[in-house]
Amino acid sequence: MSVTDDERRWWKESVVYQIYPRSFNDADGDGIGDIPGIVERLDYLDALGVDVVWLCPVYDSPNVDNGYDVSDYRAILDTFGTMADWEELLEGLHDRDMRLVMDLVVNHTSDEHEWFVRSRAGDPEYEDYYIWREGESVAEQEYEEGLYDPADYDLPREARERPPNDWESFFGGPAWTYDDERGEWFLHIFDRKQPDLDWDCDRVRAEVFEMMEWWFEKGIDGFRMDVINLISKPAGLPDGADDDAIVRGADQFVNGPRVHEYVREMHERAVPDDAMTVGEMVELSVDEAKEFLGPDGDGMSMVFNFDHMRLDFGPEGGRWSRGDWSLRELKETITRWQTGLDGEGWNSLYLNNHDEPRMVSRFGDPAYRRTSAKLLATLLYTLQGTPYLYQGEELGMTNYPFSSLAEVRDVDTLKNVAQLERAGRFASDDDLLELVRYRSRDNARTPMQWSADEHAGFTDGEPWIPVNPNHDEINVDAEREDPESVWHYYRDLIDLRHDENVLVYGSYELLLPDHDRLWVYTRTLTDDDGAVDERTLTVLNVASAETRFEPPEAVAGEAEELLVSNYDAESTTVEAETLRPWEARVYRLQ
Ligand code: NOJ
Repeated sequence: MSVTDDERRWWKESVVYQIYPRSFNDADGDGIGDIPGIVERLDYLDALGVDVVWLCPVYDSPNVDNGYDVSDYRAILDTFGTMADWEELLEGLHDRDMRLVMDLVVNHTSDEHEWFVRSRAGDPEYEDYYIWREGESVAEQEYEEGLYDPADYDLPREARERPPNDWESFFGGPAWTYDDERGEWFLHIFDRKQPDLDWDCDRVRAEVFEMMEWWFEKGIDGFRMDVINLISKPAGLPDGADDDAIVRGADQFVNGPRVHEYVREMHERAVPDDAMTVGEMVELSVDEAKEFLGPDGDGMSMVFNFDHMRLDFGPEGGRWSRGDWSLRELKETITRWQTGLDGEGWNSLYLNNHDEPRMVSRFGDPAYRRTSAKLLATLLYTLQGTPYLYQGEELGMTNYPFSSLAEVRDVDTLKNVAQLERAGRFASDDDLLELVRYRSRDNARTPMQWSADEHAGFTDGEPWIPVNPNHDEINVDAEREDPESVWHYYRDLIDLRHDENVLVYGSYELLLPDHDRLWVYTRTLTDDDGAVDERTLTVLNVASAETRFEPPEAVAGEAEELLVSNYDAESTTVEAETLRPWEARVYRLQ
């Protein structure tokens, strides 16, 4: 495609750095990362060259889900610091020409949020803020025959009620909890301490929009919107109808009937034109994404989709299973989004975040840790879209070697694993731990590794979650000292991205689609008449073995320049040759 000034946006040309504050840097020695800790590291972020920080939730919260259970949207969690600390962070970022994107968690609140406390008490002003329903009564006979056990819902023996429908929580178990005080059930698609707001209630929307405006007035540059395509629930809350849904009921509550109306209203009422918004969207097709994106859609800048995060689900289905991903499927998935949104939306590029295991452990090979980390980075920085860098990725950080559940903090892991255990899914403890080591979100949440010192230089106190023992080798100090490190490679890629328009805006074309080890593609920018202006070629050997590369005719021959390579390579000729394990190259074509 060609790029006109009209289509340029600062957030398309940016690299976003994601901070999980609890695990980034602890300034006060309580073992939990905090905002002053981030401020201490602003020069670090500046040196890396990133443009935007996405800060995971720092709002007041009881932390059942580490801040994704907000009890006050306008206050900073004590453990993280004060509003003055937050203001210093914002100023420090802006002084360095970096921007700040906050996390917006409004599908649900904490059950300790004042709105819920009042709603559960039946306060007429708040009673409709959440999704409350009567339960379904259970026939005496069903109860007698043991077909219904109130204990499954933490109800007393004599209770004769089951939840209003069969929806399940992403964290395992029913998506409903009975509340004694109100005498009704409330919906929670995540933990029971995360009740879902009722977006059909006008006052809920008005409160959320006002809160967003309040943050924009404080000077933020955008929002990352947590599970935003779950906010509209269908009338009557019908049972799930799809046995293959990611959790029971998802076919009903994902992309619900009024979701576009609400997302559009949100953008019209509460988001300044120049702000960046990125919606986290489960179960989304490319066509559905287009409806959310840009001025022709609901106004959102970009979405996070999960298609590539599902390729390693196992035959049992769902996130808590494990299968093998294949390069062909990965290429096909990413290619579908690359070509599908070209000129009609914008991609966000990620292979890990605070909810996913470390990308080197999943898509790379820890035996070729550095080289494979660099290859995956080359991929992310030469696709069309905005790259998201999750803290520690720039060091090539890996999964954690969990040896017991006592090392796990994550509610999702603990609940789902307990449920699978009850269902007899694991042959042994080791079986269970193997899945945890592969899948748990805590793999990404172990502390950032700053140095080889005790606790990786993350804290002077006792860290809230164990530090990866490999911090003696993998840490910021070591990486910055070594010019061949993953860190320096990221730095170079980020510079390149800033320098090369074609890498930001160019159209993607996949070559050798059926190759099961090589991922080869071009990026092309055309001028207004459609003639090729600039073109690059990315060649990736996604394998822990040598692979023969026979370039397709369209790209064979002399290249102008070798822009990047993760091995010592200088040749500018795109010719048949044997690529080394995890070798990555990017050429500028003539
Ligand atoms: C997605 C967030 O990224 C995750 O960490 C959280 O548990 C759920 N949404 C619920 O808010």
